[in-house]
Amino acid sequence: MHNATVLEADRQSERALIKVLGGHRVDPPPVWLMRQAGRYLPEYRALRKTARNFLDFCYTPELAIEATLQPIRRFDLDAAILFCDILVIPDALGVDVQFVEGEGPKLVPLQSVSTLTSDVDSAVGEKLAPVYTAIEAIRAALPDDKTLIGFAGAPWTVATYMIEGGSSRDFAATKTLMWSDPVEFGRLIDILVEASIIHLSAQIRAGADVVQIFDSWSGVLPAPEFRRWCIEPTRRIVDALKSVFPDLPVIGFPRGAGAMIEDFVQGSGVDGVSLDSSMPLRTAAALQPRVAVQGNLDPILLMTGGDAFQQRISETISALSGGPHIFNLGHGVLPSTPPDHVQALVDMVRERGAA
Ligand code: CP3
Repeated sequence: MHNATVLEADRQSERALIKVLGGHRVDPPPVWLMRQAGRYLPEYRALRKTARNFLDFCYTPELAIEATLQPIRRFDLDAAILFCDILVIPDALGVDVQFVEGEGPKLVPLQSVSTLTSDVDSAVGEKLAPVYTAIEAIRAALPDDKTLIGFAGAPWTVATYMIEGGSSRDFAATKTLMWSDPVEFGRLIDILVEASIIHLSAQIRAGADVVQIFDSWSGVLPAPEFRRWCIEPTRRIVDALKSVFPDLPVIGFPRGAGAMIEDFVQGSGVDGVSLDSSMPLRTAAALQPRVAVQGNLDPILLMTGGDAFQQRISETISALSGGPHIFNLGHGVLPSTPPDHVQALVDMVRERGAA
């Protein structure tokens, strides 16, 4: 048992992504892409047709396993990210969540926090059991040097979907509740913090090596609310995970954080910060003494390809080569991206990194 643990620790330390998240620079930088699985891959579209709906897909281990591994078979990426969605948490809490083809997610808008299930632990553990089954099989199937990333949405971002009933342009309903009834809003955030801790802990126990917390809409919050509803809940999740799994690296993705990025790094306790494409590379480099940075090529530039694409990849690697860097996009791969461009990106990162 003890030897097995030591062996596992050895293997972990050989994973480039884990090294970088431990604060070391690795040359060339490890690379993976947000939404590296999904509709831009023809083999994903074929697999997707076999499931009745998107949530069924996420809850069918053989499909989730296959979708997670598809990009790893095609490209020499350093990490696989679990194929799932941030909206499985509201689904587990008893909210009606549907993914409508071509329209994105549709949820029944939350009327009162008291309508959510009170036994969060069993609700998450039971509903999301197939996700953990998938993780065990994915970890077993992945080569030792590849990292498996688990994830959850940050409480703020998940709350926006629950209150708005889907995607939103101005987040008016969510902000109205946040300012008019901070006690009720705080209850919702507390439940989401608890559910995220349970969900991420179960992913780690099943074999996730790293977890990422996606705060896709944190950028719409004014500074005081960014502290209270993005940084603080993230900190609570990070602290709870680290108290049980002290060596587990956590990546935060406070998309749109802008000038709040330093407060986020300081206050959240994350080991790595994923940066959107608006973040200047010099600002990113200035964060590196304190945290590993991940990013931040514009996903539309990946879709476009060409000279500007190649030039920006090499500029990004050069600008961040002085510290811990994980190459990634500033947001997810878009469905219209040619898979060849992903291949070109991975090849370039491997080559330019050594230059
Ligand atoms: O490869 C991976 O990154 C793993 C899988 C993954 C998905 N969603 C699969 C998915 C991950 C990490 C997510 C996270 C997620 N989901 C976020 C945070 C990251 C971000 O993009 O900001 C958010 C906000 C969601 C919510 C969500 N899920 C939306 C808004 C949509 C509809 C828009 C769209 O791209 O279709 C989804 C659906 C979804 N999640 C799809 C996939 C592959 C497409 C559905 C399909 O294939 O039918």
